[in-house]
Amino acid sequence: MIVGIDIGGSTTDAVVLENGGLHVVTIEANDPVAAAAGALGKLIAEFGISLEDIERVAATGAGARVLADSLLGRPVIKVNEFTAIGVGGTSLAGMDQALVVSLGTGTAIVSVTPGKIQHFSGTGVGGGTLLGLAKHMLGVVTIERLEELARKGDLRRVDLTVRDIAGGPIGDLPPGTTAANFGKVGADATPEDKALAIMNMIVESIGVLSLASARACGQENIVLTGKLSRLFRFMQEAKRLDFPFGRRFVIPEHADYATAIGAARTARKE
Ligand SMILES: Nc1ncnc2c1ncn2[C@@H]1O[C@H](COP(=O)(O)OP(=O)(O)O)[C@@H](O)[C@H]1O
Ligand SMILES: [Mg+2]
Repeated sequence: MIVGIDIGGSTTDAVVLENGGLHVVTIEANDPVAAAAGALGKLIAEFGISLEDIERVAATGAGARVLADSLLGRPVIKVNEFTAIGVGGTSLAGMDQALVVSLGTGTAIVSVTPGKIQHFSGTGVGGGTLLGLAKHMLGVVTIERLEELARKGDLRRVDLTVRDIAGGPIGDLPPGTTAANFGKVGADATPEDKALAIMNMIVESIGVLSLASARACGQENIVLTGKLSRLFRFMQEAKRLDFPFGRRFVIPEHADYATAIGAARTARKE
């Protein structure tokens, strides 16, 4: 069997694909070698896998470059992160072509067409931004607490809309469109409002960039992966996403672990 490991800026995921099933663990550790060894150790301990059954380890993510040629005695091959993102996103979505947006500590945008994977765009606005702003502005350090606050938030005390500045639509922009994130924040804005507004700004920024990228690449479908994909889900569920969904946004099952899954699948094919 092949183990896929994604050593990211925030978390390290290890997965093993087995007869259509999937085993996965996630750990947080600062040192990339410790993170990879820890994730592999946890995977074998939790699922009763023996090291000898692991043919090789397919490593990807920012931390993969510092790994040696073997990990706990198993051979390591390194998979290009954008390849892993593209393969992981499209295979989980059951598509042979799509724009795959990896929402992690930062955001990477990869265009997949049959036979070709292209790193197309990205932004430093991502999960690290979410946690950084939440900590700095609200003293909140977990996503769970931020979501708890955001559920009670109201954007009207923070974001400036097209309605606020024009009294109605501007051309094809509906009145509810954000004109300026945080453009109206005043003394009456609560921590709940700000929590929701931070999330909204990040989702809108990444959403708009994804739509523009899809248009530029001629892609119809946008697949969201990475642990911050839950933020899009949260905003959709809270019916807070008043977003021009002209294209199809898909969050596949196991989206959190898509990159590690993509690494394992790429290694299996080789
Ligand atoms: N349980 C979690 N642990 C850590 N980060 C989480 C968790 N749930 C959501 N996140 C968010 O996801 C981001 C990390 O996403 P991830 O896909 O692990 O990225 P990376 O591959 O860069 O480590 C964090 O910055 C944080 O905003
Ligand atoms: Mg990752």
